[in-house]
Amino acid sequence: MYSDKVMDHFQNPRNVGKMKDPDVVGEVGNPTCGDIIRVYLKISDDEIIDDIKFSTFGCGAAVATSSMVTELVKGKPLDEALQVSKDQVAEALDGLPPAKMHCSNLAADAIKNAISNYRQGKTGLEEDDQEKKVPHEHH
Ligand code: FES
Repeated sequence: MYSDKVMDHFQNPRNVGKMKDPDVVGEVGNPTCGDIIRVYLKISDDEIIDDIKFSTFGCGAAVATSSMVTELVKGKPLDEALQVSKDQVAEALDGLPPAKMHCSNLAADAIKNAISNYRQGKTGLEEDDQEKKVPHEHH
């Protein structure tokens, strides 16, 4: 049902975990399934994504797509990262089952949320971001 690439990114997700000192954090919840994803970004002075990490409570497809999205946007300017669509993500993974397409929105949306926080001068950080292993609720 899943492509080799999906399985690979699910089993060995890239850029997973929390970032120690992020410049900005973004988070979205998926209303369809209730899954949550958080992304942590390091952004350079000229608006390049220097580093990115994600943590998620999501399903396997959410893990795989988040992993792929972080690979797609790492080293890219913010404006390019904003253009990443779920179709692009699915394509980069050699396709996703139709029932799982909504999952691929999560990471891209979380990145958009982070960038919008950044541009509004907000960090999106929570007090316990350094301590907490996984987010327990959606703010
Ligand atoms: S089922 Fe929730 S993100 Fe995939």
